[in-house]
Amino acid sequence: MGVAKVLNIAETEGIDNLKVILGDAVDVLEKNNHFSCFDEVIIFFPDPWPKRKHNKRRLISENFLMNIKKIMRENGTLRIKTDWQDYADEIEIYLKKSF
Ligand SMILES: C[S@@+](CC[C@H](N)C(=O)[O-])C[C@H]1O[C@@H](n2cnc3c(N)ncnc32)[C@H](O)[C@@H]1O
Repeated sequence: MGVAKVLNIAETEGIDNLKVILGDAVDVLEKNNHFSCFDEVIIFFPDPWPKRKHNKRRLISENFLMNIKKIMRENGTLRIKTDWQDYADEIEIYLKKSF
């Protein structure tokens, strides 16, 4: 869903506690200085490219998860979904190292 559609729905539904950041999530988290502020982080199907040559462009890395951990509250929930088994296996390894 695009940013304009999200903002339209938020306005129609009267949602006033929403913040939308348009940018590269990796950069945004690198430059972030707000910590322990989310009870839940949801990352669903971030990388739609199945080819091995695209693996280095994948969003989720050990460093990315370290930065995700910083924005989450203690005992928060992190939900990640992918439909690529090798990516899921890789994410599990990163999760064990970072959380
Ligand atoms: C296949 S879509 C999934 C969209 C939605 N999460 C869903 O489940 O329907 C992948 C999304 O991840 C976003 N994405 C991938 N890498 C990103 C990054 N580094 N920063 C921000 N968004 C990213 C893409 O822009 C795209 O919108």
